[in-house]
Amino acid sequence: MAVIKNVTIAGASGNIGPHVLKALLEVNFNVTVLTRSQASDGYGARVKVVEVDFNSVSSLTAALKNQDAVISTIGKSGLEKQTLLIDAAAAAGVYRFIPSEFGSCTTSPKVADLPFYSTLATVRNYLIQKAAASALTYSIIAPGCFTEYLLAFPAAINFKNHSVAFIDGGNTRVSVTSLATFARAVAAVFHHPDKTKNRVVYVSEAILDQKQLLDVAKKVKPEIQWTTSDIKSADILKAGLDAIASGGDSLQAYGNVLVGTVFGEEYGSAYDDNDNSLLGVEPLTEERLKALVADRLD
Ligand SMILES: NC(=O)c1ccc[n+]([C@@H]2O[C@H](COP(=O)([O-])OP(=O)(O)OC[C@H]3O[C@@H](n4cnc5c(N)ncnc54)[C@H](OP(=O)(O)O)[C@@H]3O)[C@@H](O)[C@H]2O)c1
Repeated sequence: MAVIKNVTIAGASGNIGPHVLKALLEVNFNVTVLTRSQASDGYGARVKVVEVDFNSVSSLTAALKNQDAVISTIGKSGLEKQTLLIDAAAAAGVYRFIPSEFGSCTTSPKVADLPFYSTLATVRNYLIQKAAASALTYSIIAPGCFTEYLLAFPAAINFKNHSVAFIDGGNTRVSVTSLATFARAVAAVFHHPDKTKNRVVYVSEAILDQKQLLDVAKKVKPEIQWTTSDIKSADILKAGLDAIASGGDSLQAYGNVLVGTVFGEEYGSAYDDNDNSLLGVEPLTEERLKALVADRLD
């Protein structure tokens, strides 16, 4: 049975990485952070910080010596370069690699050729091939939409101006997981290396839809008047694709690609079958959801 003790994280200084770092330390993994700059402040004495050149397999391989697992939480601009990190992990004899992916429907074949998703697919396929040809293994973690992001997305529900544009009727079910729960699930994957080997691991704290979110908001503050409208996921996706095709590289364009797919029923963003029980993930309670919505309405 494989045992994981030494874990390296790349991208720990971003939005998602600090949550993973905290969860790994909480359960006493020996943690190393790979970074582009020696900004070691803030990681604490228990974390080894190694400055690496993410363009150099030899630099990365040296840094990964004696490591059992690597998790990448690298951001959008560095996603493609993860192939070098994968090469280095295999060369250094690392057992498990988790790529930076962490999405809703990223593994659906229907999104494989779309902007952003195609980069994830390229890296994932590279990793799968590397695992087939070496001792490296992988886990792809699908946590759905991070709850904090979903509730901050005006496209899902606009808590500021009290409006909802129902996408495809507002009933598309989407798995959500909080950042803290996701991070603890990552640590649990490393505690169950055999059961999570070479596959997609699904984490789903709740499955929500827009109508349900609006119902919760109405229960929390019945005095608020909401405006609703209707929009199609296919039109949102098309707007994003058109903007990217005409040279746009804006957050808005990529956001539309994500919203148009995550809220499109056919892309499969609801994980009715998941790994919650293996990873110790408890469902989000209605009371907790109400509290999260109340925070947004204050
Ligand atoms: N499901 C969801 O709702 C959801 C929401 C947000 C994000 N995500 C996913 O979570 C992952 C991480 O996102 P994030 O927002 O945390 O990313 P981020 O903050 O943009 O970047 C994370 C870290 O990556 C490193 N990095 C950036 N560019 C790099 C490059 N060119 N080469 C090497 N390292 C680089 C940086 O660390 P150093 O400076 O320390 O090297 C940076 O702090 C992504 O896969 C994203 O798609 C999912």
